[in-house]
Amino acid sequence: KKVVLAYSGGLDTSAIVPWLKENYDCEVIAFVANVGQGDEELVGVEEKAIKSGASSCYVVDLREELIKEVIYPTLKTGAVYEGQYLLGTSMARPVIARAQVKLALELGADALCHGCTGKGNDQVRFEGAFAALAPHLKVIAPWREWSFNSRQSLLNYLAEKNIPTTASATKIYSRDANLWHISHEGGEIENPWNEPSDQIWMWTKSPEQAPDKAEYIQLSFEKGELTQLNGEAVDPVKAIEQLNAIGSEHGVGRIDIVENRLVGMKSRGCYETPGGTILVAALRALESLVYDRTSLKYREEVGLEFAQLVYDGRWFTPLKDALLAAATSLADQLSGDIVVKLYKGNVTVTQRRSSNSLYSEAFATFEGDEVYNQKDAAGFIRLYSLASRIRALKGSID
Ligand code: ARG
Ligand code: SIN
Repeated sequence: KKVVLAYSGGLDTSAIVPWLKENYDCEVIAFVANVGQGDEELVGVEEKAIKSGASSCYVVDLREELIKEVIYPTLKTGAVYEGQYLLGTSMARPVIARAQVKLALELGADALCHGCTGKGNDQVRFEGAFAALAPHLKVIAPWREWSFNSRQSLLNYLAEKNIPTTASATKIYSRDANLWHISHEGGEIENPWNEPSDQIWMWTKSPEQAPDKAEYIQLSFEKGELTQLNGEAVDPVKAIEQLNAIGSEHGVGRIDIVENRLVGMKSRGCYETPGGTILVAALRALESLVYDRTSLKYREEVGLEFAQLVYDGRWFTPLKDALLAAATSLADQLSGDIVVKLYKGNVTVTQRRSSNSLYSEAFATFEGDEVYNQKDAAGFIRLYSLASRIRALKGSID
């Protein structure tokens, strides 16, 4: 029997390899997704997997897919979970799961395995994707089966199996990184009354340490997609890296929230999404110039729905296609330039322009204008408030 494991090289998935062999009497194939988590996790990962007992290890570069097929489309919907979370982990899961399924099908595997706990969202996202893409494959979730309950017990198990590891008993935070964000959970922030300590943050400077001088960047969009930074054409993956670097320097994109998990519990999370925060601010500014009032409201509704869909692991559903079709169609108008100012953790939009702009100085001006007849407003308001007038007059007129 063959099992394809979503492997990261961390302590949990390192212990899963021998555990699977022992408990399922199977061959374990390690699947590593490169979603931009960085060299620290990727260099030497194949060797590590083999040392843990995997028969082979496949590293697949999914960065471009993640950006083009998930992140940019999701940005067009305006999805932000519970008002703040830019969905970095949630968006990566379907891309990882799809590639894992693809490998399993190519290799004729019998089962899929992941290292998510039984308490979180990620298990739902992986298995939601598995169910949609390969319903016939068995799913193994060791965290819901085994009795290990601490890092020390996993380390003891690896020692027992003579598997070398550089993991330590004390690693306080649970982190998840990709090209869009890094998340931090656990440790002292499990108590929502504790301010996150400085060692939580990995990417961004603190606003206090950020430069005293503001930096301006110009972002250009075509149909809702970033095409230029400061007037130079950009490749999507590199653009995110570049925005992450600039944003991090200025302390942009830190959030510290308590969020509702799909399984019902609340969890405290700190997130760093520097480039994403800049992109979202710029897109909002472009929308404000281009979308009429009801289109903007509709986009906001789609964003609310889409954020929940992505968070809840419902990527491979017809509803995802339907919502994306609406958002993409609206976003066809989102072309133009936005200038943002980065300063000590803040992103402020300072300039905006678009060939699709509906903003008209001729109409909006407080100076005398020729295009708008103020007398028209009286009739509009009379009819607009007619129901109120009828209610207020009830009894005295019929
Ligand atoms: N709470 C976030 C989410 O559900 C982040 C999850 C981080 N996952 C992890 N395996 N560390 O999207
Ligand atoms: C996990 O429980 O595996 C990580 C956190 C989450 O999925 O929400």
